[in-house]
This record gives sequence, C-alpha cells and structure tokens, in this order.
Amino acid sequence: MNEKQIDGLKKLAEPHFKNADPDRWAHSLRVLSIARILQKHEGGDLDVIEAAAILHDTGRGVECINKKLCHAEESSKIADKLLAKINFPKAKINKVKHCIEAHRWSKGLKAETIEAQIIKDADRLEASGAVGVARAFTLGMHRSRPFVSETEFSTLDHIKKKLIKIDADSVGTKTAKKIIKNRNKFVVLFAEEFEKELKGER
Ligand SMILES: [Fe+2]
Ligand SMILES: [Fe+2]
Repeated sequence: MNEKQIDGLKKLAEPHFKNADPDRWAHSLRVLSIARILQKHEGGDLDVIEAAAILHDTGRGVECINKKLCHAEESSKIADKLLAKINFPKAKINKVKHCIEAHRWSKGLKAETIEAQIIKDADRLEASGAVGVARAFTLGMHRSRPFVSETEFSTLDHIKKKLIKIDADSVGTKTAKKIIKNRNKFVVLFAEEFEKELKGER
C-alpha cells in the first residue's frame, strides 16, 4: 500500500475503536510497527500484513458491547468493507481476512500463511515486555482490579498467570522467538520485584 492508502485505512479504522477497551487503537498501531519489523526478516506480502495489522482488532468495540460476538470474526467483516473503500487489491482481501481471523489466540485457529503467523506473533509480542506490563495496569484500572488481592483477581495475578507465560513457545517465527526472550525476561523480573515490594520485602 502507498502512504495515501495506509493513511486512508487508518482514518477509516480508528472510529471503530470508539467502544473498545482503552488503548486498543494504539495497540493496533504498535502491532503494525512490530509486524513491519517481522516482515523485514521473515518475508511475506507487506500490503497484506499492514492492512491486517491496522484492521485486526476493529471488531473489539462490537465484542465489548455483545460478549457473544467474536472480535476476530467481526474485524474480518469490517475489513471487507473498509478495504473496498481504499481500492485494496481484490486478490489480496481473503489473505488479509485469514490473518485477522487466525490472530485470536483463544480461538486456536492455525495460521496458514506467513502473513497470518506474523500478525499472530506481532499481537503476542505487543502483549509482553514493558508495554505488556503497562497494558496490564491500564486494563486493571479499567476493570477496577487491585494491584494484589487474596480474594479477587488482581493485576499481579494477570502478570503472573498470563503475561509471564508469553514465551518463545507462544510465537511461531524465528524473529519473534528472539524478541520475546528479552520481553519475557523483563516481565519475570518485574513480577518478582513488584511482588516483593507489595509484601514489604524490599
Ligand atoms: Fe485481537
Ligand atoms: Fe490485537
């Protein structure tokens, strides 16, 4: 895509995040940056990757309103409409849709193409490291979670039970496996320090 198409697609995508959880649009733009880095090393069609990164979570707002809906499926439907508006090559639209539908980890759909694997990996990488920790606190505030608790799910639980588990086995490409090692190391270190400080041990 040329710059004009990318800007056009961003302008069409952003309003779909109005009802989404906080930081979700900024998350999509960070996924775009990471996906571009992965593409440089792993290959794949950059048009497909950029479009999928921008659009992959556009269905979040709909899912936030109706929990029965799957945001990956909703994002794929939105992609159909928005890509037609920027004259995106028709032959590539199904490739973008596959990336979007396969990106959701809890769905367990297999990434059948390198483009889909890159989007899946970029989405995972973005959930880890310092940014992942920052996102855990943003989400914690949004859901009124305490830092730590004996009786309810806390931000510390989120970090220890979810973020720490995003490791090299969670991603598919060689480049993502390299990057995730450093990000995961930071999360482990942060969790240890955070817990000790909360317990008054440091
Ligand atoms: Fe998603
Ligand atoms: Fe995402």
